[in-house]
Amino acid sequence: MHQTTRQEETPPAPTAVEDHRSTPQAPPCTMVIFGASGDLTKRKLLPALYNLRKAGLLSDHFAVIGAARSGMTDDEFRRQAKEDLLGCDEGHSDEAVVDWVVLRLHYLTLDASSPAAYGELGARIAAVDKDHGTGGNVLYYLATAPNLFAVIVQQLGDAGLTAEDGDRWRRVVVEKPFGHDLESARALNRELLAVLDERQLYRIDHYLGKETVQNILAFRFGNGIFEPIWNRRYIDHVQITASETVGVEGRGGYYDGSGALRDMVPNHLFQLITLVSMEPPISFGSGAVRDEQSKVLHAIQPFGGEDVLRRTVRGQYGAGIVKGAKQPGYRAEDKVPADSNTETFVALELYIDNWRWADVPFYLRTGKLLPKRETEVTIQFKRPPFVLFRDTPVETLAPNQLVIHIQPDEGISLSFSAKIPGPQLRLGNVNMSFAYNDYFGEQSNTGYERLLYDAMLGDATLFQRADMVEAAWCVVQPILDVWKALPPRRFPNYAAGTWGPAEAEELMSRRGREWRNGD
Ligand code: BG6
Repeated sequence: MHQTTRQEETPPAPTAVEDHRSTPQAPPCTMVIFGASGDLTKRKLLPALYNLRKAGLLSDHFAVIGAARSGMTDDEFRRQAKEDLLGCDEGHSDEAVVDWVVLRLHYLTLDASSPAAYGELGARIAAVDKDHGTGGNVLYYLATAPNLFAVIVQQLGDAGLTAEDGDRWRRVVVEKPFGHDLESARALNRELLAVLDERQLYRIDHYLGKETVQNILAFRFGNGIFEPIWNRRYIDHVQITASETVGVEGRGGYYDGSGALRDMVPNHLFQLITLVSMEPPISFGSGAVRDEQSKVLHAIQPFGGEDVLRRTVRGQYGAGIVKGAKQPGYRAEDKVPADSNTETFVALELYIDNWRWADVPFYLRTGKLLPKRETEVTIQFKRPPFVLFRDTPVETLAPNQLVIHIQPDEGISLSFSAKIPGPQLRLGNVNMSFAYNDYFGEQSNTGYERLLYDAMLGDATLFQRADMVEAAWCVVQPILDVWKALPPRRFPNYAAGTWGPAEAEELMSRRGREWRNGD
């Protein structure tokens, strides 16, 4: 089949529909970051605050208290933050904005498991609140090891630091991973909800901070032409790939206890599935959107023991070459046992048992050290009847694919067949594609801006509700159980730089399908 792709030479003129309603500033607040000396604060949270300020979305009455075990003074914290902001890849070069953020930073050395520390924290919050006029509002951000989530919330509660009165709010943002399996996720929910109301809790999944992920809803429900064919009658299958070219990047200690399934599937990949497959919500309010997402998660067909054997694939990388560079095998990574059976690749076939999707397979695949960094959702439509083209030299008609490119080259493309010019009737597969950059230019975005901003505004639409987290773990738990009972027999089973184990290809090919590995 011929592949003819025509690239525009010059980017098309933007035709974005502007929203002229002004975007409100976030309300005054103090943000307390637990685990502030860690990587997340440096790589994501501070740059996101910079971007929010630059966009005029942070209140003048805003301050940060970084809290962590490492001893540091306010000045040291500020100096470090300034250096990190000015030096980071995205180039936060507007020094006035950097200074604005840095001046609002405070630091408290704190042992999160010690009750005494919370009296001191309370006093610090009160002082910062007075100095910056943050209205008594506090956003706690738990960027710590997950075993501290419940401890911190419990202590905050005991110290009276989560109590709200009048308009004064107290909210807690909880980082990933939320639980290690179904039981621990349920326990964590119970512990957090013993102190906080569900509306005070913001369980983060950074995939929902990505523009292209948010755009799935806009694309589906802001256009009239896709929704009528968005169902089992027209769609053959859906495939979701999140492939990474990096390995465990020094996180061997965490990753070896997690593995690809826990690390990516019940959270990031399930977000993509729910947005792609949910029914139209009655509004974009947090209740309405999350109700529909939750219904999808509850409708995923449970995996029985046999299903796990037939419809899941796990892999672990051995040594290989990625993008021209030699890579050691997973078992040679720092803090990874030499006989580790942790999977670095997973592929699944699952079904959503409802009227829209019954019998339509959803294929998911994610892995480390694959040939290409790409997160994308492919909607593959059913083939047209072959009959008209029986006498033409086409082996098979290419299926129409709608591809939502989540990252790194954000955009949407649609492939279809067209006649190749010439006296014979021959068909080629052509592509129409839209690239975000062409229309909207490069955006400086860490993915955390919208999430932080929404948490300050009190909009939980892009955060996980307790029932959603538990429903996701319910789907994954039988897989974890079967995999645990039957350890893999031949790990490593794919070379770094390849598309995972051969069984992942078989998962598709036994039904005449194939993964999209292309551009
Ligand atoms: C994290 C996982 O949640 O998501 C990492 O723990 C993974 O292992 C990362 O690399 C992927 O996120 P992104 O935004 O780079 O696709």
